[in-house]
Amino acid sequence: MAAFHMGECIRKTKEGRPLSTDEIRQLVKGITAETPIPDYQLAAWLMAVCFSGLSDRETADLTMAMRDSGQTLHWELDGPVADKHSTGGVGDKTTLILAPIVASCGVYMPKMSGRGLGHTGGTIDKLESIPGFSTALEPDAFLRQVREIRCAVAMQTGDLAPADKKLYALRDVTETVDSIPLICASIMSKKLATGADHILLDVKVGSGAFMKNDADAAELARLMLAAAKADGRDCTCVLTDMDRPLGMCIGNALEVREAIEVLRGDAESELGVFCIRLAAELLRMAGKGTPAQCLAMAENAVKSGNAMKFFAKMIEKQGGDASVTEHPEKLLLSRCSRTLKAPAAGWIRSMHSEEIGRASVLLGAGKMTKTDSIDFGAGIRLHAKYGDEVRTGDPMMTLYAASESQLDEAEAKLQSAVEIAEEHPEERPLIRKTYSTGD
Ligand code: URA
Repeated sequence: MAAFHMGECIRKTKEGRPLSTDEIRQLVKGITAETPIPDYQLAAWLMAVCFSGLSDRETADLTMAMRDSGQTLHWELDGPVADKHSTGGVGDKTTLILAPIVASCGVYMPKMSGRGLGHTGGTIDKLESIPGFSTALEPDAFLRQVREIRCAVAMQTGDLAPADKKLYALRDVTETVDSIPLICASIMSKKLATGADHILLDVKVGSGAFMKNDADAAELARLMLAAAKADGRDCTCVLTDMDRPLGMCIGNALEVREAIEVLRGDAESELGVFCIRLAAELLRMAGKGTPAQCLAMAENAVKSGNAMKFFAKMIEKQGGDASVTEHPEKLLLSRCSRTLKAPAAGWIRSMHSEEIGRASVLLGAGKMTKTDSIDFGAGIRLHAKYGDEVRTGDPMMTLYAASESQLDEAEAKLQSAVEIAEEHPEERPLIRKTYSTGD
């Protein structure tokens, strides 16, 4: 093995020269070594990647080295194991709905999720708004629950892709998140280490996502599919619209309430249709039938209340108060609220989801600094969405926060977040494109 010099790696990447497979392996080993590569050198290398990029081979090497930086899970279960990951969006509560649907249809869904990042929300924070719900499952408890009820949603354990954990925290504070090869390695190292046979990747694209345009989202999808294929996994990437928030609620308790509404049988809402389509795709990948059969199966899981039963079981197993599924009002909202009205008549032509996400953080639904705590009851309920017609003075959205000053700040941020036009805008599908390892 050649001697390793971090300074040389930084210089090579900065100059656009490729690192060898061995250099990448040693770099990743150095992230979690007893005497680790110092943060300032890692941060310099991350910034060099942001400017110069990595080749496909380097991206694949980085992904596999990060996958192998900790434990890799191997599921010995009597049925297919599926996983799903979103690249991060505003109002994205898909996992809360999709995991119970998929589990109720006979597919195992052990799901490791993350917390909110920047203006985007995280599944773990949403679930923690359910009184008593624990997301910190010990590996044994996680496994036991998956065996018993086929689904569990927990925080990523410390030993799963630990190199990503370290790099991710550094990227978050060094403005090096939005690099396509780094996002690919971060997501796929965790997904491959989690050991599912079938992986559905939801690549968000638009103003509220890290990928702002279709070309970047397609490039990320291409790289992630290549990593899945190289590791022998079945993978589908859907490119989905984040030029509007997903569903009508943004904020933790609000989003759990909305997920409960869908699981109570609201299969026709835009959110319900979206989650059912994604669940059906996972069922198809897991060999449960033709696309049409899987769609019918997923729809029936919602309409029959079977998926809701799995959600309630999951809450109960993880120590939470499952009666919230019958009484969603137990998911308390913050004390102060304010409804913003439409300033003009017309059709909603655009919704700046990043601004809406940032406003929800100002309300307390996300963190501005690492030490902030989250106000689970804070957030935004939309009363109108992209393409809806509004009259002057119609309610547009209601904000929830612990204080009037937070409402003032968020209201100021939202001044130009919604654009009203005189004409009906064109229809825009939520699912823009689908790619798969089988293509
Ligand atoms: N989600 C991740 O897990 N990693 C990234 O880099 C971006 C989104």
